[in-house]
Amino acid sequence: MAAKVPKVKFNNGNEIPIFGLGTWKSKPGEVEQAVKDAIDIGYRHIDCAHVYQNEQEVGKALKAKFSEGGVKREDLFITTKLWNTYHRPDLVEKNLKISLADLGLEYVDLYLIHWPMAYKEDADIFPRDSEGNIVFSDVDYVDTWKALEKLVEKGLAKSIGLSNFNKKQIERVLAVAKIQPANLQVECHPYLNQSKLIDFARSKGITVTAYSPLGSPDRPWAKPDDPQLLDDPKLLQIAKKYNKTSAQVLLRYQVDRGIIVIPKSVTKSRIQQNFEIFDFSLSKEDIEKLNAFDCNGRLVPMTAALGHKHHPFENDEY
Ligand code: A2P
Repeated sequence: MAAKVPKVKFNNGNEIPIFGLGTWKSKPGEVEQAVKDAIDIGYRHIDCAHVYQNEQEVGKALKAKFSEGGVKREDLFITTKLWNTYHRPDLVEKNLKISLADLGLEYVDLYLIHWPMAYKEDADIFPRDSEGNIVFSDVDYVDTWKALEKLVEKGLAKSIGLSNFNKKQIERVLAVAKIQPANLQVECHPYLNQSKLIDFARSKGITVTAYSPLGSPDRPWAKPDDPQLLDDPKLLQIAKKYNKTSAQVLLRYQVDRGIIVIPKSVTKSRIQQNFEIFDFSLSKEDIEKLNAFDCNGRLVPMTAALGHKHHPFENDEY
């Protein structure tokens, strides 16, 4: 069953399934079952991060599935991400090793710098001053990148990449990289279709993964009157035409653009539904209609780190 998910090739020859399970916002207590269900349904790619604080539960699900014998480590593609409090080069391997221990793995398939901004080291994952503001660190992500390269040399990460970096920041990494980033993971959906950043990344041989592809209705800071992408009437109209749900159209939109996509769900029926996107494709006209939804509708603006000199969404072109 898993064979029907196409793969995307990285610049280093490794391959990533174009579709995987997101785990941001998946609570401990829910995520273990979600990962088990996903693997049973045919998912072979799981997207994780240290900061999601649920990697131990993901690890339990992986262990259970490996011991059942239906799936082997090498059948799965596991991504995780370096958190902002571990950017100092001497802390990078430590953070990956925490994730590996939590996940119960010896290596990850892809390790990403989660955000370009460094936070105060050796503290809480969200270090705050007495006024509640995040405490920054001035570690430069280009130095962090060089530490990630060592993880590939050690066999702890098969591929490395970036997340939430803007064009100029990617260019700075490329200028020092001995190992080119294989992947860029960014927020991406029709309200923020990222076409310029995607074109730029591709021109540099970097594949792109779309997070929040459904518009993350469960983002903690959502307000009741925020527009709901999944309920957009123009989207529902397209979905009806294909006899698919709006979620399936949003996911297929990314696959049809060659973008890797990682919808989050902890609901078995939705985990199943989201997987059922490999029996149709969108017409060029409908992709263009969806592209026209773009309204700079960023849902994950990382306002807690505004003012950081490496904040990616302030004063950037794209
Ligand atoms: P749940 O996890 O309760 O099933 P994103 O991937 O953009 O961050 O979106 C995740 C959110 O979308 C979660 O609230 C998830 O709910 C919900 N979701 C996932 N799949 C579907 C679906 N097929 N239809 C409607 N909502 C979905």
